[in-house]
Amino acid sequence: MEELKHCGTILIETNRLILKKIENADAEDMFLNFAHDDRVSRYMSWDSFKTVEDSIKWINEWQDEYNKEDVYYWGIYLKSSHKLIGTIYLLTESTVSKVGSLSYCLGFDYWGNGYVYEAVETVVDFAFNKVGYNRVEAYHAKSNLQSARVLQKVGMKKERTLRQRCKTHNGYEDCIYYSILKSEFKS
Ligand SMILES: CC(C)(COP(=O)(O)OP(=O)(O)OC[C@H]1O[C@@H](n2cnc3c(N)ncnc32)[C@H](O)[C@@H]1OP(=O)(O)O)[C@@H](O)C(=O)NCCC(=O)NCCS
Repeated sequence: MEELKHCGTILIETNRLILKKIENADAEDMFLNFAHDDRVSRYMSWDSFKTVEDSIKWINEWQDEYNKEDVYYWGIYLKSSHKLIGTIYLLTESTVSKVGSLSYCLGFDYWGNGYVYEAVETVVDFAFNKVGYNRVEAYHAKSNLQSARVLQKVGMKKERTLRQRCKTHNGYEDCIYYSILKSEFKS
């Protein structure tokens, strides 16, 4: 059986963005641009960072992970300013069935520009056509309609609702699961 062709968190360029490994020098941008902000963290698995030290710790932990070929955690950087404005993570859910899952976040000041859509579309293309996944999944809390819209725009199909599957700043929330198959994705 053909295996996934892992290549690690390589640099990827889109029209307006650069996706690449996050470096220690980005700690302040990470903190100021998104990690300190409850509006961003409320749907994520982490609490808002309190100080830049939290960013430094977070980034340090990822440096070891970055040595692994099967780890895909990109910083989302604006080409125009080279600033770190968000993150996108592709996690292998099943090596045998070649399933990956996606999560992402973007600094509040940058919402409404389609940046995450641009990043997600590019990472889905990477997942199917570079690494060789057959299915990419993502989910959003029921109240997170912006995230739903990003997934729909990329061509993901809604599959099921899991009751109170995630804890957000609103408390336990139902989660809506989406997926896209390699055969459905137009690169
Ligand atoms: C989810 C997130 C990344 C989206 O960022 P974004 O791409 O800049 O989002 P946008 O503001 O451009 O919205 C994307 C789409 O949602 C639509 N939208 C925005 N607010 C909406 C709302 N309240 N209801 C319905 N749709 C909405 C926008 O119109 C846009 O669709 P369009 O391009 O067809 O017009 C960003 O909101 C974020 O980082 N949130 C916090 C972290 C998070 O929720 N991560 C995802 C966890 S599942």
